[in-house]
Amino acid sequence: MPQKFRFARWVPIAAAALALSGCDNPSPATDAPLAGASIGGPFELVNSAGETVRWDDFKGKYRIVYFGFTYCPDICPTDVQRIMQAYNMLGKDAPELTARIVPIFISVDPERDTPEIVGEFTAAFSDELIGLTGTPEQVKQAADNFRVFYSRGEETPGGGYLVNHSAITYLFGPEGEPIATLPTDQGAEAVAAELVKWVK
Ligand code: NI
Repeated sequence: MPQKFRFARWVPIAAAALALSGCDNPSPATDAPLAGASIGGPFELVNSAGETVRWDDFKGKYRIVYFGFTYCPDICPTDVQRIMQAYNMLGKDAPELTARIVPIFISVDPERDTPEIVGEFTAAFSDELIGLTGTPEQVKQAADNFRVFYSRGEETPGGGYLVNHSAITYLFGPEGEPIATLPTDQGAEAVAAELVKWVK
């Protein structure tokens, strides 16, 4: 068969394949581990500049959400560090993906975590990390909506205290839909691999 006919035969097939792959983008991943779960949802909190921030303000962005407290001696800083390492790893290879992701830290210690203190905490990891806190009522409502539990823990030397809390890292989609938890306990590379899997 002459070369030009072979070429002509394949062009429409390639075009059809491209059209198909372009189609599966906007719809939420229905095979996601947390697809359909009632996790997330409305909140009204305060960012490090003291401005009100709502869940819907992140519409159109993938969101990594972690609840913790800035005085946490170990788990929270480790988890947040791994989240941001994963985010930066991904950003090196695929900045177009990280441009679509917002990492968010939400305090479960509103008594001590003022907007300013949360801002200092997040800035120590990355300027891309958004830190939120609020009144005890605002934080409670947000935590409830995200199925996060927290309670005041034991006293620490010097008059401080610990906060017991769920240490779950969530990934949400552009419509605020829950997609998956991110394996921060397995390190930054595992988190990055999971991001690559879901962020389109
Ligand atoms: Ni912690």
